[in-house]
Amino acid sequence: MASALEARVVAALAALRNPRLDNDLLSAGMIRDLTVTDDGAVSFTFLLAPEDPATLVRQARAAVQGVDGVERDKIRITVTNPAGPAPATHGPPSTSAPPQPSATSEQPNLGRVLAVSSGKGGVGKSTVAVNVAVALAADGARVGVMDADVYGPNIPRMFGLFEKPLVIAGKIQPLEAYGVKLMSLGFLVERDAPAIWRGPIIMKIVQQFLHDVSWGELDYFIVDLPPGTGDAQLSLVQATQVAGAIIVTTPQEMAVGDALRGARMFERVGVPVLGVVENMSGFTDPETGRRFELFSSGGGQRLAEEIGVPLLGSVPLQPRLAELADAGQPVLVAAPASPAAASLREVADQLRRLSAGPGMALPILRG
Ligand SMILES: Nc1ncnc2c1ncn2[C@@H]1O[C@H](COP(=O)(O)OP(=O)(O)OP(=O)(O)O)[C@@H](O)[C@H]1O
Ligand SMILES: [Mg+2]
Repeated sequence: MASALEARVVAALAALRNPRLDNDLLSAGMIRDLTVTDDGAVSFTFLLAPEDPATLVRQARAAVQGVDGVERDKIRITVTNPAGPAPATHGPPSTSAPPQPSATSEQPNLGRVLAVSSGKGGVGKSTVAVNVAVALAADGARVGVMDADVYGPNIPRMFGLFEKPLVIAGKIQPLEAYGVKLMSLGFLVERDAPAIWRGPIIMKIVQQFLHDVSWGELDYFIVDLPPGTGDAQLSLVQATQVAGAIIVTTPQEMAVGDALRGARMFERVGVPVLGVVENMSGFTDPETGRRFELFSSGGGQRLAEEIGVPLLGSVPLQPRLAELADAGQPVLVAAPASPAAASLREVADQLRRLSAGPGMALPILRG
């Protein structure tokens, strides 16, 4: 026997139309495994075809949220591709293959999930993640930063935050600085504790940061990843829908090779690379405005061309940036008029433009 609450949820979903199929979501068979419990928890699987707009999931969530008696925090929507994984490249696509949807947990409240990545360590991922977040927030966007660098979480230091987050009603409360919400393993483990995390533990941490932190409603969710193509990267793309990756590199050839491998990894798992940021690219003399190239130059541009994405910016070396960052002052706050701050703001502007464009429809992850 369906409860009255379940009936109201069903009615709310039945009122939503899929324009492509000229049918409502329920009749179109897009909603599966609907469960509604008396305490207001709702969960279902949303079968979203690649040709359907991802906004349908948001609409479904909003409709369910609006039902009297549904607990907003207890809505779980799992989005899957009804076609299952992409057919193997050899042989014709089989229509009789059993669907093996790669389930991804859809969290519309996080907004655009942007992953900041690099092939090599120490190239400036965290610097880019933090300053882009601060720039977007300064512009009025609601922004969260998740430090997924479980090996060396340094976001807390860069924001000058060290206190332990509060846990309210089983939810971890993010900390906040410069208008940006933050969560990092650095808040939860002892400082300088040796972190030797294996794959399953990293997966668990990433999932917890996504599900057990009260992020609220965000426009951008920026994830600072550890370098390389390891467990944290895969955990993230398995645990949520990543709208795009940003690859940070230095102008050196070596870093570019590693970065290219990182970009290929994202492409393989169906996450579009939005662009490349070249960091520590030369030095602009603050007195004369003259620019000096310190490393072999042009690596960012070459990488961008190789991947076929835009170069989002070239951030020059900035004197005292490291010192200020260590003191909890992102360069955008400490030296807003500096060339580095200007180019980081430009990166944020470009990301905002790319996010608004049609080229960034949420991808459906394939097998
Ligand atoms: N444009 C810049 N000018 C001067 N110093 C910079 C610049 N970008 C980053 N740094 C400094 O270089 C160091 C490495 O930067 P950051 O921590 O952002 O790199 P990362 O890629 O996140 O490193 P890791 O792989 O260790 O996480 C930091 O001390 C940072 O303050
Ligand atoms: Mg870092």
